[in-house]
Amino acid sequence: MDAVSEIKQKLDIVDVVGRYVSLKKAGKNFKGVCPFHTENTPSFMVSPELQIFKCFGCGESGDIISFIQKIEGIEFMNALEMLAERAGVKIEKNTLDPNTKLKKQIYYINELSTKFYHLLLTTHDLGKPGLDYLRKNRGLSDSTIKKFMLGYAPDTSNVITGFLEKRGLNREDLVLAGVSVKRGNSDYVDKFRGRVLFPLVSVDGKVLGFTGRTIINREPKYLNTNETLIFRKSSFLYGLDKAKLAIKKEGAVFVEGQMDVISAHQAGIENVIASSGTSLTTEQLKILARYTKDIIFCFDADSAGVSAVLRAIELGENMDFNVRAAVIPDGYKDLDEVIKKDPTTAKEVLNNSIPAYDFILLSVIKRYNKNSPEGKKKIMEEIMPWFSRIQNKVLIDHYSKQIAKELDLSQETVLSMFSDPGKSAEMASSDIQKSVFLSKQSLESYIISLLLKTELDTFREFAYKLNPEDFKNETLRGIFASLLKYRKESGEFIPNQFSEKLEDSSYREFFFDLYMWDHTDLLNDPTGLAREIRQVVSRIKRDSISQKMTLLTEQISIAEREKDDKRKTKLTKEFESLMQERASLENLSV
Ligand code: CTP
Ligand code: MN
Repeated sequence: MDAVSEIKQKLDIVDVVGRYVSLKKAGKNFKGVCPFHTENTPSFMVSPELQIFKCFGCGESGDIISFIQKIEGIEFMNALEMLAERAGVKIEKNTLDPNTKLKKQIYYINELSTKFYHLLLTTHDLGKPGLDYLRKNRGLSDSTIKKFMLGYAPDTSNVITGFLEKRGLNREDLVLAGVSVKRGNSDYVDKFRGRVLFPLVSVDGKVLGFTGRTIINREPKYLNTNETLIFRKSSFLYGLDKAKLAIKKEGAVFVEGQMDVISAHQAGIENVIASSGTSLTTEQLKILARYTKDIIFCFDADSAGVSAVLRAIELGENMDFNVRAAVIPDGYKDLDEVIKKDPTTAKEVLNNSIPAYDFILLSVIKRYNKNSPEGKKKIMEEIMPWFSRIQNKVLIDHYSKQIAKELDLSQETVLSMFSDPGKSAEMASSDIQKSVFLSKQSLESYIISLLLKTELDTFREFAYKLNPEDFKNETLRGIFASLLKYRKESGEFIPNQFSEKLEDSSYREFFFDLYMWDHTDLLNDPTGLAREIRQVVSRIKRDSISQKMTLLTEQISIAEREKDDKRKTKLTKEFESLMQERASLENLSV
């Protein structure tokens, strides 16, 4: 066992943290006043089961080693030494990282693979389909292809594996690097097939892994290197190696995908990076903070993209970034499409970015009818958790006027909601409310965090009333689906075991946050708990049904226009059954 695991096994995070912070038991977790920011009500949680800590006030989180690093202000190695001494573990300096050699090997494999795939793409017959795709379908120039060292993996099972084996590399290492996968007992095949490849390059220019986009319409559309000894998705920023200088000067533009980054560079927009396939993490932002404090989020125009921006805004704001958002014009999916049509428009889109708060207002208003009383109420409910955080008087005046004007309300009414966050009784006591995604305002987060803690009986009674499809947030949908499956299979809920069933580390981080959310009071009151869960479930269900009904209304009017009676009858029936479902919910929730 290596020193890190040994230390972690011998020490308990509750004892170690307990030397600095006075902790009280709160359900399965411990709770205290955060040592990393000033607060009156405790929102700092420690989990003995997961051996991690998390502050819901300032967002600091980590394991036993990072806690010591942060609180003592020291480097990883020194923290490790300190803890080793306490645990009675001997660490020899040169064996500290038992993986040094293996890591070197993985870097080497990735470097060779990058060159191989790139040569194949640019010079070999086998690479022709890839090259055609990148040039014709994606409009990339040869110099862009070279700049990003794009490659092509043919649709056969043994190209890179064979090549690297001939170079004397060990098959097991190829699997550890992520370029090969083991099939059956002894067969090793290429991981990427029929895909153009984007090498994932670190800030200092090393290839950490690959993303491959299918060119033959195979699922998944994008395939990523799984986590390896050298690659962690949640702390990787695609394009940072090429964008960092521009970012220092102009701030960062954050987009969703590799293609958006690459076409932006080709169009001369160089301060662009992507999180590539995960929702944004605090780790990524911490890295970015070394280069700039200014971010523009420019995510996809669909509703998943908009929720991703909202979550990103929240993270960014909490970490003191100046956050803006750029809105993709109607008719386009993402920045890549805008650039392809016309690079000048794309530059305008970025130049016309709006402050985060304007984006929030805009995107929430879009979802409701701002002229109806219910619409106004809904809009206010959704935006106030954000706006009531604003402290600056000028901004408060500005936005209260703007909201009042948009919704045709009096400024006094809006202002009263600014100054009185206690207005919505739901947003009670603790600092947790600072985080919208971890507040009762986000019903989806809230219900999962409750269901994670309930006894199996209660879980069974309520959880199956919801489908994963009822969740709008993609990550939460995924977590919920895994939770249903897990609780079907195992009676007891073991957080560590569950977290291993989650797809990737960003899901895991989100799950940790949800699990650490303190519901002790509620959990000690079974009747109250059941009532709360029932209400939240029916509200989520109602929202989900309403959304389906809105969609159906549109489809019905299209069918009507097209005089497609058969379809119209079918859709109308669906609509009616949804109406009934909603009515039965209303009975349930009173
Ligand atoms: N992604 C991923 N896995 C998927 C789908 C997407 O990792 N199954 C990541 C990729 O990094 C991708 C980004 O999410 O670049 C955006 O995905 P998507 O919106 O699907 O990209 P598109 O713009 O639709 O992709 P393309 O333009 O290549 O069709
Ligand atoms: Mn795209």
